[in-house]
Amino acid sequence: MYSSKITGLGSYVPDRVVTNEELSTLMETSDEWIQERTGIKERRWVDEGSGDTSATMGAKAAKIAIERAGLTKDDIDFIIFATLSPDMYFPGCGVQVQDILEMPTVGALDVRNQCSGFVYSMSIADQFIKTGMYKNILVIGSEYHSGGLDLTTRGRSVSVIFGDGAGAAVLSRSEDTTKGILSTHLHSEGKHAKELTVEGPSIAHWVPEILEENDPNDTSYYPYMNGTFVFKHAVLRFSQAIIEGLKTNNLEASDIGMLIPHQANLRISQFVQKKFGLNDDQVFNNIQKYGNTTAASIPIALTEAWEKGKIKDDDIVVLAAFGSGFTWGSVIIKW
Ligand code: ACO
Repeated sequence: MYSSKITGLGSYVPDRVVTNEELSTLMETSDEWIQERTGIKERRWVDEGSGDTSATMGAKAAKIAIERAGLTKDDIDFIIFATLSPDMYFPGCGVQVQDILEMPTVGALDVRNQCSGFVYSMSIADQFIKTGMYKNILVIGSEYHSGGLDLTTRGRSVSVIFGDGAGAAVLSRSEDTTKGILSTHLHSEGKHAKELTVEGPSIAHWVPEILEENDPNDTSYYPYMNGTFVFKHAVLRFSQAIIEGLKTNNLEASDIGMLIPHQANLRISQFVQKKFGLNDDQVFNNIQKYGNTTAASIPIALTEAWEKGKIKDDDIVVLAAFGSGFTWGSVIIKW
């Protein structure tokens, strides 16, 4: 049995900074409301004409991660791509990255688990590496939200939250089983699927129906979120996921070197921080700058924390996510 180690991290966000003030010119909202409820000050949106998409941003982040791992694209055995905003209905973004980076004909898998997508992807990669099937796996989380948001007052409770960007990690085989990914745990509760969803386009809301309807009041293409309901479940499931991961490894909250929670809402992160009695150096948040980038939020935050030297050798690093599905989970790493 092998262990999987993160050997490279990378991120990419579009240059265009969208402040809360700018949003308040598009819809009835305010910097004060957004900051007070979510902690977000600004987010990045893809600039029109830049060519950025979920796949291209993912490829940019991946390139950095591969280089930092000291590898080349030809060393990667498998690609896992997590997104809720794929460029195409099908095929998935994983094969696009394979093409963009001119990689060999390795397998590519897309993961559709929204905010938990990166945690799910890490878990899948970990299983493939531990069993010896693959040596180096590229895991990407990338989102192009801004193209699909309702930027009117009708959509404000969702649209102010989301941002665009990508993060990537290379997981590599290691013989030292005392370090690397110690455990992953995954959960879902599909009975709450409709509380946070985009219903169309889908097979259930297929194209002729969309064209026929052409109804300006049809909001099925825009994200719907029952915010308060989601919030309550998020704080519970984040906590459970962390406790489960720590317990499995006989660890206490005080052993956490760095917690990287999915950046859903600063208030959720602060609640979790307080619940576990963690100090500011034990939790990393950057939602203030990027908003909620869904599957990209953990790899962007992990990359930034690592770049800032906040993660040190032998640290216990906890990744925890909760999101649409509902889905949630954790990854416990000894760095
Ligand atoms: N600007 C100004 N006012 C607003 C805005 C806005 N952008 N959005 C909503 N409001 C108004 C509402 O209309 C409402 O007004 P009313 O009281 O007159 O009806 C009032 O503000 C309060 O609205 P709530 O929705 O109750 O606000 P809440 O405090 O719940 O905050 C939020 C909303 C930020 C969305 C919060 O519920 C939240 O963070 N939820 C969890 C998000 C999350 O964790 N998502 C999971 C990951 S995402 C994924 O998986 C894709």
